[in-house]
Amino acid sequence: MCGIVGYLGARSPVPLLVDGLRRLEYRGYDSAGIVVPVNGRLEIVKAEGKLDRLVEVLQGRELAGVYGLGHTRWATHGIPSQRNAHPLLDAKGRLAVIHNGIIENFVSLKKRLAGEGWDFVSDTDTEVIANLVSSHFDGDLRVAVERTVAELEGMYAFAVLALESSEPEIVGARSGPPLVLGRGDGEQFLASDPTALLAHTREVVFLENGDLARLTAGGYEVWNSSGEPVERPIVRLNWDPVQSEKGGFKHFMLKEIHDQPQALQDTFAGRVDFESGEVGFDALELTSQEVAAIDRIHLLACGTSWHAALVGKFMLEELTGIPVEVDYGSEYRYRDPLVREGDLAVGISQSGETADTISAMEAAAQRGAKLAAICNVVGSQVTRLADGVLYTHAGPEIGVASTKAFTTQLVALYMLGLYLRQRLGRPVENALLADLAHLPQAVAGVVAGERDFEELAGHFFEASDFLYIGRGANYPIALEGALKLKEISYIHAEGYPAGEMKHGPIALIDKSLPVVAIATGERVFDKVLSNMQEVRARDGIVLAVTDRDAEALGGGADHVIRVPRVSELLQPIINVVPLQLFAYFVAVRRGADVDQPRNLAKSVTVE
Ligand code: M6R
Repeated sequence: MCGIVGYLGARSPVPLLVDGLRRLEYRGYDSAGIVVPVNGRLEIVKAEGKLDRLVEVLQGRELAGVYGLGHTRWATHGIPSQRNAHPLLDAKGRLAVIHNGIIENFVSLKKRLAGEGWDFVSDTDTEVIANLVSSHFDGDLRVAVERTVAELEGMYAFAVLALESSEPEIVGARSGPPLVLGRGDGEQFLASDPTALLAHTREVVFLENGDLARLTAGGYEVWNSSGEPVERPIVRLNWDPVQSEKGGFKHFMLKEIHDQPQALQDTFAGRVDFESGEVGFDALELTSQEVAAIDRIHLLACGTSWHAALVGKFMLEELTGIPVEVDYGSEYRYRDPLVREGDLAVGISQSGETADTISAMEAAAQRGAKLAAICNVVGSQVTRLADGVLYTHAGPEIGVASTKAFTTQLVALYMLGLYLRQRLGRPVENALLADLAHLPQAVAGVVAGERDFEELAGHFFEASDFLYIGRGANYPIALEGALKLKEISYIHAEGYPAGEMKHGPIALIDKSLPVVAIATGERVFDKVLSNMQEVRARDGIVLAVTDRDAEALGGGADHVIRVPRVSELLQPIINVVPLQLFAYFVAVRRGADVDQPRNLAKSVTVE
């Protein structure tokens, strides 16, 4: 949730730290701060609010040094304030700490340390780390951190630097949230996420849980949880740093909506042979025997990825005939799920860092499931946990509201269905592939109509509530459309199965409640149409997303958003795009902070 970054090398650290924080700001934006040792002093600059506030405060300050740490915060313990902003010092002012995560036993540690005379000035759990490291520090920072982590319970990635180190050094520790090292030319980096490093190096090392790392001018060293020196593989990232820029768009979200045709193409490119119908993945291999042994597939995810899982259930059940269960990560881990040895559990996560999804995957693995991951971030925690990975190749997604990650997850789920079908000895007919190849073009067609959504938003941006309805695989699209609208525009919106309206929500309908109805395909089109008529009969306003012309709706809609038609299983991938654009333009019209909505963060690395 917070973003941490560290630099050690010959360049001036402040601009590099600020640039790294800029790229990590999507992880949290309640406050930001940096620390740089200069002439035997720890120079700390912090500011409440977004990174721009810190940049203002830094203006005109010369902070020459060779290393430093930076932090952007999503508050867990203690309100967003200057006092609770990181970096945090120990009570003796010898060292500074930045931290992402939660120290669960901080209350007892704080009490003990306070009893030993260590003062606390913030409400954070992080200050406990600072004082603990200091209490163990007698010249060897790595050993002090090792002793500290032995006392910590919870999930953390943190980094420390100390004035009394014999040479410039940064020590980092990881247990849960990610921590990545970057190897530059005579310089070392450390960050929560490789996007902070892309402008400087593509060679990164993902630390494992329990690892400690020490960065010095000479390079880096890593120790595992048993204190043994270990070599972690160097991963070369092929993400283009330009992909992490806005590229002329006003917001990352809009850019990422526009990225979708290419991202969808990248997700299936090289994996589906459109002539032979063969589907294969580099990092996921299941034998026919393993697939035949799957009694049930468990899809585990949170938020938008959970909506992808709901659509995936339709895809996988239809393509494979294997029953699929969909769970929220946060629910699955605390119930006693029925998993048979050999079942397939698939964690779906854009970031690969979501704590609840990770724990749910662990719960499934403990019960004997084979684990797969559908993920966008190479080397992230869910990919390390899984036996096989299906990368979505969407490229960096920076906007907090997920867009291209969602549509590429849907393509990945569809391809997984085709793959399993093949392993079960069932044919992958041409009809199953034809529309997949056509998807990027169809989505490009919707995105090209961007202006219509801007205009539509003009009619609706003042509404205070919305209802989204759909049936079958488009019910999760209604949920996703509602989530997009509420998270970036703060308008209350609810997704509902269209057929369930008459069992309650229809009581809400009046002329002030816009209803977005998804009416595509054949299977349930007439049924949704009837539900739209029921809304109209009660003075409700209907916006229809449809693959027909307005006449085919028989006057059932006040506004019609036309989308191209593809097969029923792939249609949700098209249908969600107008809902993303609609939410975006409504939020812009309301003057909302689209890329960094209040109270949210991109990666939810705490429970
Ligand atoms: O990185 P993940 O896919 O695991 O993230 C899951 C959710 O936190 C995420 O989808 C969230 O709901 C987004 N803000 C939705 O736009």
